[in-house]
Amino acid sequence: MRILVTGANGQVGWELSRSLLPLGEVIALDRTQADLSKPESLVPIVRTLKPQIIVNAAAYTAVDRAESEEELATLVNARSVEVLAEESHRLGALLIHYSTDYVFDGSKASPYSEDDTVNPLNAYGRSKLMGEQAIRNIGGDWLIFRTSWVYAERGKNFVKTILRLAAEREELKIVGDQTGSPTSAPFIADATSHILRLAIEERRSTRFNSGIFHLTSSGFTTWHGLATAIVATYRKLAWEDSLKVKEIHSIQTSDYPVAAKRPMNSRMSLTRIQERFDLYLPEWEQCLSVCLRELV
Ligand SMILES: NC(=O)c1ccc[n+]([C@@H]2O[C@H](COP(=O)([O-])OP(=O)(O)OC[C@H]3O[C@@H](n4cnc5c(N)ncnc54)[C@H](OP(=O)(O)O)[C@@H]3O)[C@@H](O)[C@H]2O)c1
Repeated sequence: MRILVTGANGQVGWELSRSLLPLGEVIALDRTQADLSKPESLVPIVRTLKPQIIVNAAAYTAVDRAESEEELATLVNARSVEVLAEESHRLGALLIHYSTDYVFDGSKASPYSEDDTVNPLNAYGRSKLMGEQAIRNIGGDWLIFRTSWVYAERGKNFVKTILRLAAEREELKIVGDQTGSPTSAPFIADATSHILRLAIEERRSTRFNSGIFHLTSSGFTTWHGLATAIVATYRKLAWEDSLKVKEIHSIQTSDYPVAAKRPMNSRMSLTRIQERFDLYLPEWEQCLSVCLRELV
């Protein structure tokens, strides 16, 4: 089994290079080896490597910058995804792709299911939605996992930013009116590996169906709730308190102006993935604690 992973240096891509190893020969390519801003360049790469599975973890993820670089975001998150889907279909391979809670507008009062109406509020969300639609239109065997609020020990993310700010400042002001599920990249990668094992079996016995699934930790919080938990958990785990922070204030989205509009409700239902793949989805606090154990 040969597995091609793109975005090898990203939070999820890095973890996939580890978690997929028991499944077969993993060829993990970073941006210098597979550049999704040059869609045509992906064709000879896939045709030469002839993978049975393609896992696309590369993405343009700079949500605010995407507002002024929508063309580039679309090239990476949609046009290249279309090329990967075409090449995967042509080879008879299985394509795994990640999408985002930002395909929703957040106006629903309860968690979003996979079939709920999409209506992205920002350029990043639009580009990711176009990627989803390209895969659906091309067909073949594919799975799309929509995830949210991703963090890891490695890379740029909210958890590491809060730890840095909490070490520098006595007070923090964090948005407290957006709700979602923080999700760790190692967990996404491990879950992908477990799902792939089942998907490979399903394909062998021609029982496989393509589809979109929500894949996050269980439970929900706000960015303020997450920041508070990061600081409290870090303090519990660390030998000495290197953090300066004394107060974490909850502020409104409108008090923190950024270029891209975000959904107020990013909560996503996990029923479909649990039922199809018999997966246990741990509470977000548990995965956060595992990550912070590495960071203390
Ligand atoms: N991060 C989140 O909060 C979040 C939330 C919801 C969904 N997702 C989705 O989850 C998936 C994994 O995201 P992540 O958190 O692992 O993101 P990430 O840490 O930002 O990693 C993205 C990777 O894509 C690479 N990349 C960017 N432009 C590229 C290009 N033109 N060609 C090739 N590679 C390129 C980056 O390369 P460099 O390392 O060279 O920059 C980086 O390694 C993505 O599909 C993302 O849309 C993420």
